[in-house]
Amino acid sequence: MAEPKENVLMEKIVSLCKRRGFIYQSSEIYGGINGFWDYGPLGAELKRNVKDLWWREMTRLRDDVVGLEATIIMAPAIWKASGHVDTFSDPMCDCLLTKKRFRADQIESQSGIAYFYEGVTDEGSVLHKIPYSVLIPAGKPPESARKTAAQFYELRGIKVKSLEGERSEKVDGTTRYNPENGSLLSEPRPFNLMLQTYVGPIQSEENIAYLRPETAQAIFAQFKNVLETSRQKIPFGIAQVGKAFRNEVTPRNFTFRSREFEQMELEFFIKPDEAIEAITGSVNTADVADHPGEPQPNWGWKMWHQYWVAERVRFYEGIGLSRQTLGFHVQTPEELAHYARATVDILFKFPFSKKDEQGNVAGDELEGIAARGDFDLSQHERFSGKPMGVFDEELRTAWNKLDDAKKAELSKRYYEARLKYLLKCNVPQAKAEKDAKEDADGLAKGQYIPHVIEPSAGVDRLILALIANAYNELNDIDDKGAPRSRVIMRFHPRVAPIKVGVFPLLKNKPELVAKAQAIYAELRQHMMVFYDDAGAIGRRYARMDEAGTPFGVTVDFETFEGVKEGPLAGEKDTVTIRYRGNTDEENGMQERVKISELLAMLQQKVG
Ligand code: GAP
Repeated sequence: MAEPKENVLMEKIVSLCKRRGFIYQSSEIYGGINGFWDYGPLGAELKRNVKDLWWREMTRLRDDVVGLEATIIMAPAIWKASGHVDTFSDPMCDCLLTKKRFRADQIESQSGIAYFYEGVTDEGSVLHKIPYSVLIPAGKPPESARKTAAQFYELRGIKVKSLEGERSEKVDGTTRYNPENGSLLSEPRPFNLMLQTYVGPIQSEENIAYLRPETAQAIFAQFKNVLETSRQKIPFGIAQVGKAFRNEVTPRNFTFRSREFEQMELEFFIKPDEAIEAITGSVNTADVADHPGEPQPNWGWKMWHQYWVAERVRFYEGIGLSRQTLGFHVQTPEELAHYARATVDILFKFPFSKKDEQGNVAGDELEGIAARGDFDLSQHERFSGKPMGVFDEELRTAWNKLDDAKKAELSKRYYEARLKYLLKCNVPQAKAEKDAKEDADGLAKGQYIPHVIEPSAGVDRLILALIANAYNELNDIDDKGAPRSRVIMRFHPRVAPIKVGVFPLLKNKPELVAKAQAIYAELRQHMMVFYDDAGAIGRRYARMDEAGTPFGVTVDFETFEGVKEGPLAGEKDTVTIRYRGNTDEENGMQERVKISELLAMLQQKVG
């Protein structure tokens, strides 16, 4: 079955994004460019907030993570070492009738009657032996298959007199036909997703460079520099936020699969399990139901993996994506990337996410958390010839205290793991054995190549998830008492593009305007504030609701005359704070606040 053309909620979201300036199609005035999106004023603020929060939580609030900002174009050898040049491809096929391109692995299986033709005879009675096939639903007359086949031959410049060698066959679960028109597809072929360019004035093979398809590799390539300059010790992480590019075969679902996007990646380097066991006596590999708590010295890679999954879920919950909106997918061995030992995907239930047979929605990938072993650093060591290992004094001391049996056991395990990696990389047996032996000897002297856990999130997918999650429609009454339907974007205050709207009750009262502008001038030093004095106050509130602004501050006559009633009765220099929309947990609450206390109160609320 073809993907449904219409997803009403997605259409509304796309239209709101354009109307309110969250997301626009790139190059729209020239008809757009498929897979590229621009962020408008509200989208740019939302994106900045998300990236800042990630950066703050992943680096500034942690002692064990530091940041990096590397270039988009790097030495092409990096992509050879990482495996991207040889293996970063999707299977692609084309419709033989319309030339439309598909990702072969995303075509849903179909059933029906396949009509096969051996060729065609043209009006000059010449036989053209060009085999072709069409799939039509069971019960549909064969004429429709013949019509499609005739179109196929005519597109090749043949004036059709008769189709030759027709035979039909019932087929089940095939993915060889275009789901939209039944035409046969070309054989799937690998399509490398890296976008290429040339560095320097000559466009030759040796000047080819790639726009990075992930930010991760720069972290591995700079691992030694960061280790030496940051005074960090294993375990520690390096975080990076930045653009990535993939020439996706079929960009789709708005920004979900784009060709230019941003990633927020952490490479968290840990000791191999054999080193942990030598140091602490045993490795904790327990499967925990929830957050495993504070990191412990005896954690092996499995615990660190679980820890980062739990940390990332905590992050999503902290910006308003509740557990119910998220899902998890533990990748099967067949799904795992060539470098990964285990990967857990955190999913979000997007409006376009598919339902299973029971009607449950699993969701689509927001972030992948991969346990990458020591693959990446080992690859860069082999390809660059520069050592990527670390020396661990604690390990050396602990190793010397082990009995011989334990030393032999750990050495053997480490040797076997290294040998497996080297053989997988096609290193000849004798050399692989020699190198693995050297690595095992190195472990006994306190040396190893760190392993890595990688939480890798997409900024654009997260922005789309936050927008979809925030989108609410509300039916209420407008200023004139007429029923209306309007949108409220219920962003968490931490990510909301605009934190506060500031309004004088009336535009034509200079003292109200002056006071509101003074408040605006002060608040904007600390957060994103929008000043609005145009139109009826209800309209101004509605505009802010649609932008997802969680708080509104209104200067009215009581600001000057004193509060009429309530806890602040008689007080001057107060304002009303209005909480966004009346479906919020605060239920459209309004409260009176002293201007002198306003900033501290808002700062506390927007985190
Ligand atoms: N370094 C590992 C890595 O890049 P990935 O699963 O290919 O892993 C990580 O990408 C994240 O980057 C994904 O979970 C997704 O959020 C985001 N991402 C990947 N391809 C994307 C695309 N074409 N458009 C938007 N986001 C994408």
